[in-house]
Amino acid sequence: MSDTFYITTPIYYVNARPHLGHAYTTIVADVACRFHSMKKSETFFLTGTDEHGDKIVRAAKKESLSPKHYVDKISRLFRDLWPELNIAHSAFIRTTDPAHMTVVEQILQKIYDQGDIYFSEYEGQYCFGCERFYTERELVNGKCPDHDTEPEIIRESNYFFKMSNYQDWLIGYINEHPDVIRPERYRNEVLSFLKEPLEDLCISRPKTRLQWGITLPFDKDYVTYVWFDALINYLSALGYPTDPRFDKFWPSVQHVVAKDILKPHGIYWPIMLKSAGIPMYRHLNVHGYWNIDESKMSKSLGNVVDPLELKNDYGRDAFRYFLMREMSFGLDAGFSEEQLVQRINSDLANDLGNLFSRVIAMAHKYFSGVVPAVDDTVEDNLKLGLQGVAGKTVAEYDMAMEAFAFNRALMSVWEFINQLNKYIDMTAPWVLAKKKSSRKELEAVIYNLLEGLRIISGLIYPVMPETARKMQTHLGMDPDMPFYAISQLKAWRVTQPGTQLPKSIVLFPRIDKKSASAATSEADRPTAAENDEKPQITLDDLARVDLRVGTVVKARAIPRAKKLLELEVDLGSHRTIVSGIAQQYDPEALIGRQVIVVANLKPTKLMGVLSQGMLLAAVDDSGPVIATLDRPVKAGTRLS
Ligand code: MSP
Repeated sequence: MSDTFYITTPIYYVNARPHLGHAYTTIVADVACRFHSMKKSETFFLTGTDEHGDKIVRAAKKESLSPKHYVDKISRLFRDLWPELNIAHSAFIRTTDPAHMTVVEQILQKIYDQGDIYFSEYEGQYCFGCERFYTERELVNGKCPDHDTEPEIIRESNYFFKMSNYQDWLIGYINEHPDVIRPERYRNEVLSFLKEPLEDLCISRPKTRLQWGITLPFDKDYVTYVWFDALINYLSALGYPTDPRFDKFWPSVQHVVAKDILKPHGIYWPIMLKSAGIPMYRHLNVHGYWNIDESKMSKSLGNVVDPLELKNDYGRDAFRYFLMREMSFGLDAGFSEEQLVQRINSDLANDLGNLFSRVIAMAHKYFSGVVPAVDDTVEDNLKLGLQGVAGKTVAEYDMAMEAFAFNRALMSVWEFINQLNKYIDMTAPWVLAKKKSSRKELEAVIYNLLEGLRIISGLIYPVMPETARKMQTHLGMDPDMPFYAISQLKAWRVTQPGTQLPKSIVLFPRIDKKSASAATSEADRPTAAENDEKPQITLDDLARVDLRVGTVVKARAIPRAKKLLELEVDLGSHRTIVSGIAQQYDPEALIGRQVIVVANLKPTKLMGVLSQGMLLAAVDDSGPVIATLDRPVKAGTRLS
């Protein structure tokens, strides 16, 4: 494990405005960087913009701006977006920065002196969109596979980089360092590409055709090919070769890119580094595409998703969570707003949000918001393996985060959240609270729950830094304490007894899109007579009963009705259910619990409240005991 961590995103072309795809890559880098700061690494996180080349000149012309004016304008859009998404990069590089341009010249000269660059006449099929020559083999039906346009035949003298000199070295390096390109599918893709002889790379453009670029140090009539210029940003940002930051951070460098730019990063870049005598990067992390309705996001299809709008509508932490949870790093994923709402409601509002408010509310109700001390004699019996589960969660999370398997890391955290919810059901604090003799048990249970939440607040920090801070404040932790340090998250009994907790807050309000309007209003519903007698039924009758899983969202006592609680239950849409469980259940403790509901029972008015369904419960001598599920499922799931 190294004590520095250097992470980069691609530098984005300024011919288009930032979209969901750019946001995803940059959030990935931010999450990885924050995770390494949990491990006390000194981090450096680089992003920026790629501003030279034909593409940019043409985009500037379209807007009737000079290239310089144009790149300044679009680069700013990227730079301004990142803080909005809580992205905390250390540096923002532009390829038009003079310091970068100097490093490009130095490296070109080094490679030239090394004898790996030669001058030759070339005729080939050139795609202006990609700014590169295509071989016959690479074209699809004679067209550029990315732009679906026919390339133009161009004949000119140019400088070439002798990549074939290093082909065997690269194959050997990748075989000896199997995780240098990950996930594995992309390493295999690069190796399979390297099975064919590598063609030399044209690294110049004559100034007669293009001036917007970095002049070759050894021929003033040419500018540098945009990829040769762009890749070097990863070095120039560290002040290569003399700045101490280069020696410090380069050995730990990891790049993040999507599969579209695997070839320049998996082949050109390692060979450029080798030729210039610079050590190879540590990892190239390659992810898939976000698709919209099965197709790639593109301006021409008009399906480009604006990350700023999503952040404004749903909040930045929720947006970040969705991206990290939904995409399996390396594979493509589909984006839809419905899916986003669904995740916010189920994972954030229900699972995490309800657990958090339930526990804090209980700490207030039973201990006036003061963290209880734990008596060792009762604690062990009451931990119910919670400390072990926490330890396992942190270990799984750590491994998954190291491997860029963000969705797996989050799944481990949510498994722990479910365990904590189960722990509440198993220990039933509201029952313990009824007897003075079980006071010590109650203290231990609430303490353990607060301790679990402390660990969760740290684990979610890289993905949801704002929510993590909010939780930290409401768990009464010292704001100066590095609450997310992984060493602290591996420890147990860190929460200080005696700490006064602030009042609970709602971490994630539920989002009611469409479903809210689908709920039938009281006036529309027929009132039915109370019906608590059940006649015998046949199997066919049973099939007519609509049994659903519901999540309790709100619960309150009904004034003057000793036995009744009024519950708001989420069954996909919300409805009110009146239930005779007031003497057995604390309303606050019900929030977030899953219950089984007879959903098609005729609505009934009870104490003036229209009850739109019934909770299943077993009734024994102590009264009703509500039926629950073995593990949480999506609200609204049918029982059969
Ligand atoms: N300028 C080059 C990179 C040079 S790096 C030395 C470039 N720029 S780009 O603006 O086209 O950005 C491409 C990158 O944007 C992808 O590799 C990926 O990180 C991100 N994405 C663009 N569209 C995307 C999706 N639809 N889905 C996921 N990521 C996407 O290439």
